[in-house]
Amino acid sequence: MASKLVAALASFLLLSSVGVVIAIAIIQIYKITYLSPGLKYGIVLDCGSSRTTVYLYDWPAEKENDTGVIKEKLQCNVKGPGISDLGLNSSQDKETWIHFKKCMAQVKQGIPASAHNSTPIFLGATAGMRLLQHQNETASNQILLDMKNYLQSLPFQFQNASIISGEEEGLYGWITVNYLMDNFLQKDLWNSWVRPHGAQTAGSLDLGGASTQIAFATTDDARGEGLTKVVLYGYEYTVYTHSFLCFGKNEAEKTVLAKLVQGSTDPNNVQNPCYPLGFNITMREDFIFGSECTRKLRVADYNPERNITIFGGGDAAECRKAVRHIFDLSSCHGSQNCSFNGVYQPPVSGKFKAYAGFYYTAWALRLIGSSTLDQFNSTLWSFCSMDWPNLKQNYSITEKHLKSYCYSANYVYTILVDGYKFNTESWDHISFERQVKNTSIAWTLGYMLTLSNMIPAEAKLVRLPIDNTLFAGLLFLFSALIIITLVFLIIFLIRMCY
Ligand SMILES: *[C@@H]1O[C@H](CO)[C@@H](O)[C@H](O)[C@H]1NC(C)=O
Ligand SMILES: *[C@@H]1O[C@H](CO)[C@@H](O)[C@H](O)[C@H]1NC(C)=O
Ligand SMILES: *[C@@H]1O[C@H](CO)[C@@H](O)[C@H](O)[C@H]1NC(C)=O
Ligand SMILES: *[C@@H]1O[C@H](CO)[C@@H](O)[C@H](O)[C@H]1NC(C)=O
Ligand SMILES: *[C@@H]1O[C@H](CO)[C@@H](O)[C@H](O)[C@H]1NC(C)=O
Ligand SMILES: *[C@@H]1O[C@H](CO)[C@@H](O)[C@H](O)[C@H]1NC(C)=O
Repeated sequence: MASKLVAALASFLLLSSVGVVIAIAIIQIYKITYLSPGLKYGIVLDCGSSRTTVYLYDWPAEKENDTGVIKEKLQCNVKGPGISDLGLNSSQDKETWIHFKKCMAQVKQGIPASAHNSTPIFLGATAGMRLLQHQNETASNQILLDMKNYLQSLPFQFQNASIISGEEEGLYGWITVNYLMDNFLQKDLWNSWVRPHGAQTAGSLDLGGASTQIAFATTDDARGEGLTKVVLYGYEYTVYTHSFLCFGKNEAEKTVLAKLVQGSTDPNNVQNPCYPLGFNITMREDFIFGSECTRKLRVADYNPERNITIFGGGDAAECRKAVRHIFDLSSCHGSQNCSFNGVYQPPVSGKFKAYAGFYYTAWALRLIGSSTLDQFNSTLWSFCSMDWPNLKQNYSITEKHLKSYCYSANYVYTILVDGYKFNTESWDHISFERQVKNTSIAWTLGYMLTLSNMIPAEAKLVRLPIDNTLFAGLLFLFSALIIITLVFLIIFLIRMCY
């Protein structure tokens, strides 16, 4: 009699658990089929010193405040110079605007028409415009106004068009890196958001044309310089960030050239150890000295239209010296908490992602990802030692860029080792990458996340959202029923045997 009751109960519980499983399945299918409100979109224009890049991002609408859900759908490089060059030459401007419109048309096609007017569009201008602002604020304001008017004429939801500071740029880059790496929050087994166990954030190394940024979380609270406190998903981070204006790849190269011209007696025969042996180039003096970054280095008889001819020397050791010469390494007086030019910096720690110009330099050396410091040095050494015909034969890179990779490799080495104080150990933790999960590492994503409040300061997400509570509840019920069923079955079997 009792055993029959136990058997009946066991079958009832078994049936109930099957029922629960079916319920879970139906809810999941229903959610996928009916409750998916589709994608949301966001556009960010990165107006750099040498060019403008347009990014289109998308993400599932109902997950907008989750982490790691935003993906890059499209990237379009606007051909032509950066927006800081607008207004210099009307035929060049005309061309640039044509390319702008081409990119925006491509972006428009990437977004369903019904979502156009709810798609936010942001513009952030960086070091090229920072320099122009120093030099001629009226001109920079006019360019921003023109850009703003243009963006407002598009069918999107205009948000902001402004020059962002170097520190903001560094911080947004750091947010992008860690957002893409899921370092802020992760889903646990129960589908709820938690801070990854033993979470470490990664540092961010960004190299643009006119400025470079370093940003990393630090525990060093000794001094406030360059330290920003940010609260993301309920956790506070102290982030060190610094931007070096004029230390972008192109402006720093102009500074190297300017110093070489200064030290030379014959403008028709300037030796550059960073250019390959057998290479020569003639450029106008204002290409080198016309920039705000090299203005102070102008030679006494500066004549913007005069031609300067530069010959390559292909000498890695001399190139290293010439590059080091643009860094003021003495004003740190050997302090460990100082990078260069007397700038405070706590010791680097943890992993780093090196992207943009850092990535492209490593790419040219065929050293993307991680490498050892010795590997990096010896690879750049043999790269620099190759003469121009050999280099052209071995690398299918446009000549305009190929000629400068010996310089940029030495620049990368010098800023990381002599500047930021990476050593043989910490170098191993640098990864030279362009993307994480098919999304470009760029400050633009962090900028959009911040300006649209998509990373809540409060830990709102660190608990189960409603639908997940139901799901977890059912899962719990299912597990409980299974366990009770097993207990009953065991009792039943024991009773049968005795
Ligand atoms: C995301 O967070 C913002 C600000 O906290 C809020 O306005 C918005 O409604 C949230 N979106 C969703 C889908 O929860
Ligand atoms: C635009 O961005 C700048 C800098 O990020 C900020 O100071 C300003 O308040 C923003 N304007 C609007 C309208 O959001
Ligand atoms: C400079 O380079 C060109 C090829 O770009 C070459 O034809 C020319 O001979 C070189 N001039 C000198 C003086 O080496
Ligand atoms: C500089 O060189 C260009 C061609 O490379 C030439 O057209 C121009 O006249 C030269 N300028 C001067 C001042 O010699
Ligand atoms: C450098 O930083 C370390 C910790 O990061 C600290 O202990 C030390 O006092 C600092 N030194 C100077 C000179 O600020
Ligand atoms: C870099 O590599 C070259 C060639 O292998 C070597 O002569 C030089 O000493 C190295 N420099 C450093 C700092 O390791």
